[in-house]
Amino acid sequence: MFKDLLTKTRSYRNFDSTVAYTKEDMEYLISLTRLTPSAANKQPLKYAYAYKKEDCDKIFPLLSWAGYLEEKPPYDNNVPTAYILICFDTEISTTTCEMDAGICAQTIVLGAMEKGIGACMLGSMKKDEIKKIFNLPEHIVPRLIIALGKPKETVEIVDAKDGDIKYYRDGKEKHFVPKRTLEEILLPEIK
Ligand SMILES: Cc1cc2nc3c(=O)[nH]c(=O)nc-3n(C[C@H](O)[C@H](O)[C@H](O)COP(=O)(O)O)c2cc1C
Repeated sequence: MFKDLLTKTRSYRNFDSTVAYTKEDMEYLISLTRLTPSAANKQPLKYAYAYKKEDCDKIFPLLSWAGYLEEKPPYDNNVPTAYILICFDTEISTTTCEMDAGICAQTIVLGAMEKGIGACMLGSMKKDEIKKIFNLPEHIVPRLIIALGKPKETVEIVDAKDGDIKYYRDGKEKHFVPKRTLEEILLPEIK
């Protein structure tokens, strides 16, 4: 069921670092974005990926994980084993990229989860250094990177209480994500 897949599709930040993925896996996930809507159908996004350990090792230190947690994951070297970088091609558009990027990012992480691959979207990265690693030309601007790997933790949704939306952990293996209740996000019906 779609809802089960969506419920499982959480932000994972601890992975089994022995499980690797291939170029084909990455290109399959990126190919899913061709099936998404796009403002004015401009399709201004471009993608790069990494799946070799030596490349992943260069990318990892350039990312910021879990702003709300004092002790930052991944723990015990449970690092991601692949990445997909979503970039804006500013020669195609500078005004219609943000929403397209959100739609495409969620499409990639849902497609990944369906194959048992966990993901975390990260907007917080050292963009200039990422640009160098991927040899990106000036007009290709990194916006979001998706860390990928076989999940090595559980992530559970709980109802947010008193507006507190900060995620928290119980030890190294359990992460809790407060979501606002349906009651809180629904606006009044038309009268
Ligand atoms: C646009 C965007 C940027 C994000 N950037 C980061 C980030 O830089 N680092 C991080 O650890 N998580 C990042 N996240 C993950 C969020 O923290 C996560 O979605 C949120 O805590 C809710 O958890 P859930 O995805 O399991 O529902 C980002 C998510 C989105 C949608």
